[in-house]
Amino acid sequence: MIFRIMRPEDMPEVMAIEREAYSLPWSEAAYLEDLTHEATVYITAEEEGKVAGYMGGWLIFDEVHITTVAVRADLRRKGVASVMLAAYLDHILNYGTRFATLEVRISNVPAIGLYRKLGFKAVGVREHYYCDNDEAAVIMWTSDMRDGSFAKHLKELSRGAEIEDTRN
Ligand SMILES: CC(C)(COP(=O)(O)OP(=O)(O)OC[C@H]1O[C@@H](n2cnc3c(N)ncnc32)[C@H](O)[C@@H]1OP(=O)(O)O)[C@@H](O)C(=O)NCCC(=O)NCCS
Repeated sequence: MIFRIMRPEDMPEVMAIEREAYSLPWSEAAYLEDLTHEATVYITAEEEGKVAGYMGGWLIFDEVHITTVAVRADLRRKGVASVMLAAYLDHILNYGTRFATLEVRISNVPAIGLYRKLGFKAVGVREHYYCDNDEAAVIMWTSDMRDGSFAKHLKELSRGAEIEDTRN
């Protein structure tokens, strides 16, 4: 599996996964707009030339605000998201990032398990956050990812995977 910066050409496959993965999917236009911002980093995981998963977020000062993490349904529970998220967080330490945060539906047991495995902790709940079913969001944060033990944990989980960045 290779991990690389998301490209506009990935959109058809990303959107197919997006529509299957989320009850409130983003539009292609929303992704394309995010890809043009300098403060965003979106990546895709590619297996045998096909998009296996993707994720991304906004870099804001020393924080990354993760906006999306999804894996193709037929490839779930094989560790794809664990390696992808660990490789992503390890990669964005290069941008001066120290902390990562995100919101996740309170009923999303797989995603909460994934984030806990990576070292995120629940710090609060936003009630009535999701407009389709009025569901609450759990707010999760990491501790300082530059801390030696956290950084080591990321290296172990990413199994040496690196993000190919061909933009520069
Ligand atoms: C959440 C998601 C990205 C996980 O991807 P994945 O590649 O299957 O995850 P992994 O195989 O790396 O699993 C990582 C951990 O997540 C948890 N997990 C994943 N799937 C799970 C499930 N079905 N039930 C319970 N825990 C689960 C486990 O803690 C797992 O660790 P373990 O394998 O050591 O037990 C995937 O289910 C997905 O795309 N869901 C739809 C989109 C979504 O909800 N994204 C999150 C938005 S906030």
